Amino acid sequence: MSLLKIDGICKSFGGLKAVDNISFEVQEGTIHALIGPNGAGKTTLVNMISGIYSVDTGDIYFNDEKITNVPTHKLVNKHIMRTFQNLEICENMTVMENVLLGFNINMNKSLLKCSFQFESIMDDEEKFTHIALSHLKRVGLEDVAYKLCGDLSYGVLKKVEIVRALALNPKLLLLDEPVAGLNGTETAEIAEIIKEIASEGVTVLLIEHDMKMIMGISDNITVVNFGVKLAEGTPAEISSNPVVIKAYLGEGSLHE
Ligand SMILES: Nc1ncnc2c1ncn2[C@@H]1O[C@H](COP(=O)(O)OP(=O)(O)O)[C@@H](O)[C@H]1O
Ligand SMILES: [Mg+2]
Repeated sequence: MSLLKIDGICKSFGGLKAVDNISFEVQEGTIHALIGPNGAGKTTLVNMISGIYSVDTGDIYFNDEKITNVPTHKLVNKHIMRTFQNLEICENMTVMENVLLGFNINMNKSLLKCSFQFESIMDDEEKFTHIALSHLKRVGLEDVAYKLCGDLSYGVLKKVEIVRALALNPKLLLLDEPVAGLNGTETAEIAEIIKEIASEGVTVLLIEHDMKMIMGISDNITVVNFGVKLAEGTPAEISSNPVVIKAYLGEGSLHE
């Protein structure tokens, strides 16, 4: 069954068609990768799915319910969570505080502007702290739970973002380049975390450039280029698709 259905959505910025009539479906409980060169429209797609950008035309369905242009905080209530290509972490707050921010489901769409009143959102702090800690533990971050994010490495902060989304018990998790800028060990760790999340029934839409990781953990792949869908299929189908190889992957790139 498809959990997420993207039906002919378009988004232009001035004269630029960033997303041009893209359709695809994400099956429940799978890891579905969205790949394509820089500027292909991947983040714009995720921004529309997560209610950050409005959709020009077309529709988005979650569990057969139309969620086109539903605001972010309402999508969070439906357990659609995301992470950001550019970290949205408050460096002057601890890891725990950053994770707890996720529980403020009334966050506005600019998510995590650090200026708002942190205390006012924490009606149930003890309960949320317990949940946050259990997720931090599972990714091996319990030791840094009360450290300031500004003192931690980029690799750790990428995990903190995932934990913040996980703590809200997502049904659909949108990950925008979760391993960009990470070394091989950190990448392998995050790939394991993603696989584990999916094995527990969370549906994952994964944007990444790391082809080894994509080919290793994805069930299905949608390829976009210049705002249009180029191809879709299993990793085996995509890695042998001549159109994809020519436009994006490059001869031999999967066999390095
Ligand atoms: N808010 C915006 N205003 C203007 N142009 C944008 C905006 N967001 C994205 N774009 C443009 O849309 C195109 C697709 O961008 P993006 O979705 O970020 O690509 P990707 O994530 O695949 O690298 C790019 O040409 C980018 O410059
Ligand atoms: Mg992007």
